[in-house]
Amino acid sequence: MATNETILAIDFGTSHSLVGALHQGRRVDDLAIDPSSQDPTLMRTLLYFPNADQCFYGTEALRKYTELEMEGRLFRSFKSHLPNKHYLGTVFDNRILSLENMIGLFLLELKKRAEVILKTKVAKAVIGRPARYSMDAAADEFAIHRMKKAAEYAGFTDVIFIPEPLAAALEFRRGINQEKTILIGDFGGGTSDFTIMKITPDNFQKKDVLAVEGCPLAGDALDSVFMSSRLNRGFGAQTKYRLPMSDNIMTMPVSIMDRLNKPSQIVHLKERETYEFIKLVRKCSLRKEDKEAIDRLFVMLEDQQIFAFFEEIEKTKKSLSSRATSAFKFDYPDLETSEVFSSVEFEDWAFKVKNEIFSALDRCLAQAGLVESQIEHVFLTGGTAHVPFIQREFTRRFCASKMQTKKIFHSILSGLIESAKSWDELK
Ligand SMILES: Nc1ncnc2c1ncn2[C@@H]1O[C@H](COP(=O)(O)OP(=O)(O)OP(=O)(O)O)[C@@H](O)[C@H]1O
Ligand SMILES: [Mg+2]
Repeated sequence: MATNETILAIDFGTSHSLVGALHQGRRVDDLAIDPSSQDPTLMRTLLYFPNADQCFYGTEALRKYTELEMEGRLFRSFKSHLPNKHYLGTVFDNRILSLENMIGLFLLELKKRAEVILKTKVAKAVIGRPARYSMDAAADEFAIHRMKKAAEYAGFTDVIFIPEPLAAALEFRRGINQEKTILIGDFGGGTSDFTIMKITPDNFQKKDVLAVEGCPLAGDALDSVFMSSRLNRGFGAQTKYRLPMSDNIMTMPVSIMDRLNKPSQIVHLKERETYEFIKLVRKCSLRKEDKEAIDRLFVMLEDQQIFAFFEEIEKTKKSLSSRATSAFKFDYPDLETSEVFSSVEFEDWAFKVKNEIFSALDRCLAQAGLVESQIEHVFLTGGTAHVPFIQREFTRRFCASKMQTKKIFHSILSGLIESAKSWDELK
C-alpha cells in the first residue's frame, strides 16, 4: 500500500454505521459523519425518500420524516435483507429501487461525507461484514455479492470485506502482548457474531484466527419479540376470519404479521397486495374486537406510526437492561397502548432467540476445537451486549474475571482501520 493513499474503514451496521480511515499511513478514528447526531461519529443506518428523487440519511432522515409528515418511505434495518433472494428491493413511485442501490446510496453518502472531512477523494475501502449474513451458505454468498455491487455503485473501485467479529478481535489484540486465546462476541442490531483467535506479540496472521461463526439474530430480533409475543394482538394478529363460500376458519397469516413484527419489514406492510389482503381479512373477520384491532392496524399504516412504535419498543427493551420492569407507552390517538413489561417476561419471550445465538457460540467453539475453559479472555461488544441475559449466559459459561465489555460501538470500526494496515496481505 502506498503511504500517501487513503483507505476508508466502514462499519456498515444494521442500526448504526461508523467511518474511519487509514490516511497517509495514519489512523483517523471515528469521523464525525453525522454532525447533528447525539454522538456525531455514529450515524443511524436510515434512508428516507420523501419521493423517488430525493433521499436523506441518518439524523436528517428522521428530522425530515417528521417535518414532511411521514410522506414517502423511511427504510431501517435494510442490511438484514441482503441474504434474502426474494427481497430484490421495492417499487416506489413506479420506480424500482433495488436493495443494492439502496445500500449503494447509503455507502456513497458515507464516502462523500468522509471525503469532505479528509479533504481527499477515496476509492479504496475496508468494509465489515457479519460472520454469517445467513445460516445458508448460498444466501451468504448472495449477500456478499450484493454488498460488492453496492460498494461499486458507491464508487469504490477496490474493496476488502472483513468479518466484523474479526475486526473486533484485531482491536482487542492491540491491548494485549502475551500469547492468549480470546473469544469475541459482537451483538449488534441484525447479527450476533463470534471469533476465537490466538493473539501473539507478533503481527497478526490469518492462521491466528481459530474460528468465526455467527447467526442472523440480535437486537432487532429482540425488539420483535415484544411485538410477536404481546403487542401485535392489539393489531389483529389473532384475527379469525372465514372467506366467502368457505367453511374453514382461519387465523391472520404469520407471513402478514411478520411484516408487522420485524423492524426490517415494516416499511413493506403498506405494499398494495398486503394492504388489500388485510382489508379482506377485516371484511371476513368473525369477531367485533378483531375488526377493531385491524382498524388500529390501518391507523398505524395510514398515519405511518409503525416506525415510531418500534422506537418505543426499543426504548423499553433498552431500559430493561438496567431495570426489572419498564413501562411501554404509546399515546398516538386511536393507537393508545400502555403496558408494563418485566425483564423476566422479556427473557422468556426471547428464549428461542437466545438459544439460537448461543448455538452459534457452541459451533464457534467446536470449529476451534476448544472447550470453554480454554478461552482466556472474553470480550463483548455491540449494543445488544448490554442485555443482562446475554451477559449472564457468558458469566455462566466463562468465569466473570475473564470478561470485558468495552467500547460498545467503536471496536469494530477500530479493528477495521487496523486491518487496513494489512491491506496487501488481506487482498
Ligand atoms: N442498553 C441497551 N440494552 C439493550 N440493547 C441495546 C442497548 N443499547 C443498544 N442496544 C441495541 O443494540 C443494537 C444496536 O447495536 P449496534 O449499533 O452494535 O448494531 P449494528 O452494528 O448497527 O448492527 P449489526 O452489527 O448487527 O449490523 C440495537 O438493536 C439496540 O436496540
Ligand atoms: Mg455492528
